[in-house]
Parts: sequence; structure tokens; C-alpha cells
Amino acid sequence: MSYKEQIDMTRVPKHVAFIMDGNGRWAQAQGQERSFGHSAGADRMHDIMTCGARLGIKYMTYYAFSTENWSRPEAEVNYLLDLMLKHLEEEIFVKNNIRFTIIGDISRLPEHQQNACRQLMERTKNNDASCMVVAFSYSTRWEMQRAVRLIAEEVQEGKLKPEDITAETIDQHLMTNFMPEPELLVRTGGEERLSNFLLWQSAYTELYFTDTYWPDFDEECLYKAVVDYQHRQRRFGKTGEQVTGKV
Ligand code: FPP
Repeated sequence: MSYKEQIDMTRVPKHVAFIMDGNGRWAQAQGQERSFGHSAGADRMHDIMTCGARLGIKYMTYYAFSTENWSRPEAEVNYLLDLMLKHLEEEIFVKNNIRFTIIGDISRLPEHQQNACRQLMERTKNNDASCMVVAFSYSTRWEMQRAVRLIAEEVQEGKLKPEDITAETIDQHLMTNFMPEPELLVRTGGEERLSNFLLWQSAYTELYFTDTYWPDFDEECLYKAVVDYQHRQRRFGKTGEQVTGKV
């Protein structure tokens, strides 16, 4: 049976997050520049987005550029910025009824790029087959710092009492406040770490690591990851017996 046939369509995760690692190594293995890998990776991102939407995954978050990536060589940073702009084409989102949104410190992007992002978000805001979330200039440490500042301002203005601050208050001040936590997080490229991505949100997320480089992560790989996820028992701190109801 193919992986696709093994998927229980009633238990498809609502939110899958991706760390798209291995673009550079994929390119270098073919004697090409790293930029060649990023370009193939961006195309792959769109393939996975449309495939995931067809599968019924309602949110897909892609780690495209971290806060730390600003310290890569200038030429690579510029290439990634241009690539992002090139991939903000409305057509693919409209054709597939997909909403586009971005999380991260977009104030660091050039003005014309910020405008392009805002425009695409506005134009696709009512699309509801799936939501593609691009994490760009994003890291959880930056996001938490921002959230803490916003909460502190509300306390200072007397809108919020310190004793009323709960985990939900923090959730509401994160950039991810419009979507559920990811049930599944996929990292390609053979490394097994979270690299400052959705650290708060993935407290109970199932992690899936694969050696496949991101540009090779095709539909079959996505199906395989979903099947693997569906075989896990999610206990959220409870015992297996509590979860299954069998004592
Ligand atoms: C990690 O691979 C990948 C990145 C830092 C960038 C990921 C970006 C894309 C897939 C394109 C994003 C495009 C848009 C449209 C937002 P790496 O370069 O660290 O690879 P390596 O570990 O093999 O060196």
C-alpha cells in the first residue's frame, strides 16, 4: 500500500510546520551554487503547500529565514530576499484558494517587500482551503521578547494585572495567535534540532526528522511523515492508559 493510501483522512494534522534544511548541501552535491538549492527549495515549498492543502492540512508553517540567517553572507541574504519576493505571486494562492501570511520581524525587510507581503496577505485573507504561513526574519526568542514587551505595556497602561497573566495571555501575544499549535513538525536535511523555531508552540508537537534534503522532499515524503505521525500516541503528559481509556 502506498503511503497516501495509508493515511487516515479523519486524522490529518491541522497544522504542520517545516524546517526546510539541506538546500545548500543539495546544491553543492551537484557541483552547484547554494542559491540553486534555495531556488529548488522554494519551488518545493509550493509543491508541498498545494499537496498539503489537498490533503486537508489547514495550516502549514515554513521556516524560510531565521533571525540568525541575517548573518549569512550578504549575497546569500539578498538572494533569499529576492527569491521570497519572486514567490509572492498571487496566482498560485488564488488558484488553490490558499491564504498567505507571514510571521516574523518584517520591519527588517526592504519597504517594497513589506508592501508586497501586506498586499498578498490582504488579497488572500478570505481563502480557506489552507493557510500558508511563511516564517521570515523569525525566531521564537525574538517573538517571545516582542510578546513580553507587549504584555508589559498593557500592564503599565493598567489594562492587565500581572496576576492575570496566563499561558493563554502569552499565546495571544505571539505572532502565531491565529492558528492552532502544530501537531507535527518536519525537519529535513539530517539535523535534529529546532533552531529557534516555534519553541513555545511545539511543547507537545510530534517531531519528524528525515535525512532527505528539502529540495528532494516530495509529496511521497509528506505522506510518509503524516503516516508516521498517525502511528504516534499523543499523551500530553498523561499515561497511555488514560489516553486509550484502557486500564
Ligand atoms: C536551510 O538550508 C534553508 C534556508 C536557510 C532557507 C530556506 C528557504 C527556502 C526553501 C526558500 C524560501 C523561499 C521563499 C519564497 C520564502 P541551508 O542553506 O542551511 O542548507 P545546508 O544546511 O545544506 O547548508
